[in-house]
Amino acid sequence: MGVMRMGFCHVKVMDLAEARDHYVNVLGLYPTLETDDKIYLKGWDEWDHHSVVLEQGGVGVVSHGYKVRHESDLEDIEHNASAFGLSTQRISAGEHVELGDMVRVHLPNGHDADFYATATQLGVEVGVHNPDSFPTDLRNIGAPLLDHALFVGDDVETTERFFTEVLGFYASERMIASHEDGAPLMATWLSTGNKSHDVAFLKGPDGKFHHMSFALKDWAKVTDAADILVHRGYDMDLAPTRHGITRGETTYFFDPSGNRNETFCGGYLMYPDRPTITWTMDELGKGLDYYKREVSGTFLSVFS
Ligand SMILES: [Fe+2]
Repeated sequence: MGVMRMGFCHVKVMDLAEARDHYVNVLGLYPTLETDDKIYLKGWDEWDHHSVVLEQGGVGVVSHGYKVRHESDLEDIEHNASAFGLSTQRISAGEHVELGDMVRVHLPNGHDADFYATATQLGVEVGVHNPDSFPTDLRNIGAPLLDHALFVGDDVETTERFFTEVLGFYASERMIASHEDGAPLMATWLSTGNKSHDVAFLKGPDGKFHHMSFALKDWAKVTDAADILVHRGYDMDLAPTRHGITRGETTYFFDPSGNRNETFCGGYLMYPDRPTITWTMDELGKGLDYYKREVSGTFLSVFS
C-alpha cells in the first residue's frame, strides 16, 4: 500500500478574513480557491491544488488527508480498515473540491483520515523546466509545504497499530508514560517515507488538534519566521528551539482562531530498519524543548 504523504489539513476558523491574513500574508501560502465559507491554500513548493482548507465556523480540525500512489490503494485501505475494525465511508470525486475519489476512515482517536490518489495539479510558480530555486515574490514566512500534523485522542495504541499494521507506517519515536513494563503509550511519531515523521498522535481528548507544521528550508528560516511573527505582534507558543524528539528545529505559534501552527526543519532520515526511539514522560521536557528541557505551559493543555 502506498501512502505517500500527508496531503491536507482541513481546519475550522472563527473568522475567515482574519485567518486569510494569517495564512496568506504571514505564513505566505497561496490561496487557490475562495468560497463563501472556505479558503483553499497551498505552499509554493506544492503541486496539488491545496494542502490547507480553512472553514468558517469554530476552531479545530475537520479532517486530514493522505495522498496514496494508486487508485487501487483506496480499495485496499477500505477493505483492510474494515477488517481491522474501523468504519469507513466513500466520498466521491469532487465532493472534496479538486480531489478524486476518497476513502474516509474513522480513526480510533476521534479523527477522520481521508485517503485519495488524485488531485488537480496546479504546479508551482518556478515550473519544472530549468526552474529557479524559489519564487521571488513570497510573502513573509513563505512556507513551501505542509510537513506533518499532530492529532490528539485517547486511543493512541490502536491508532498507531492501524497506521503501522494496515498502512505500513513506521514508528520513528514513541513516548510511554513511565519506565514500568506495560506503561501506556502517550504519543507516537509515524513515518511513511524518509522523513522523521509524517503524522503524530498524542494521548488526550478525542478529536482534538495539536498542530499542523510547515517545512522550512533551514534553521535560519525558522528564526526568520519567529522574527516575522514578533514583528506582527504574535505571542510565541514555543520560541525557536530543537525538539529532542525527531531532532527537528521548531517554533510554535497560534493562528488567530487558536489553531496551533509550527514551522519546522531538520530531523533525521528515516528508514524502516532504523530502530524505534523510546521516550518516557519524565523526559518530555527534553523531547519538546531540548535546550530548556521544560514543557511549555500550553503543550499538554491547549488543543483546538
Ligand atoms: Fe510538529
